[in-house]
Amino acid sequence: MKTSMYAIFCTLCLTFMAATAFAEMPAPDGKALWKYISKESPYTGWAYWDDHQGLQKGNAPHAPQHKVFVNKTGTAAGKAAAEFDTIVVKENIGNDNKLKALTVMYKVEGYNPKKGDWFWAKYSPEGKVAKAGKVKGCISCHDSVEDNDFIYVHEFK
Ligand code: HEC
Repeated sequence: MKTSMYAIFCTLCLTFMAATAFAEMPAPDGKALWKYISKESPYTGWAYWDDHQGLQKGNAPHAPQHKVFVNKTGTAAGKAAAEFDTIVVKENIGNDNKLKALTVMYKVEGYNPKKGDWFWAKYSPEGKVAKAGKVKGCISCHDSVEDNDFIYVHEFK
């Protein structure tokens, strides 16, 4: 009896470990990425980069205030480039402290090698896809920080 209980416990543990370790990353697709950051691995539970924590002042074309959340893969990285499967979620917040939009960068191996393999997306606060893909507007501006893997708010060292 004891042994079978132990066996069941071990199986449960292994299943749980496998599920968390191999949680599948979403396809580079606006809707799939939203599902991932809102339900499968809610970004509000992620961390900030050490050098850019919590509510910060922002610049146009983004909102006057923002928070930038980074998944575990992203915070673990040292030098540029960021690791594949890094996801960066920027909450764009108005002067009224309300969430206006979410802009997201997701690094997918082989997706767009010339431009850091980033998948770009913009969502309404409810998750409606406004822009997604190799969005020229996003890339043309973030290009100026290409040496830092297209990221402004965090310095890779
Ligand atoms: C005209 C320049 C410009 C454009 C266009 C632009 N960004 Fe940004 N982005 C910035 C700047 C500057 C920051 C740093 C934060 C701030 O100042 O608001 C930033 C920050 C970010 C961040 C946080 C990570 C980082 O790079 O610091 C994300 C994610 C992001 N932008 C996504 C997008 C997406 C998605 C688009 C297109 C829909 C876009 N951006 C368009 C200038 C731009």
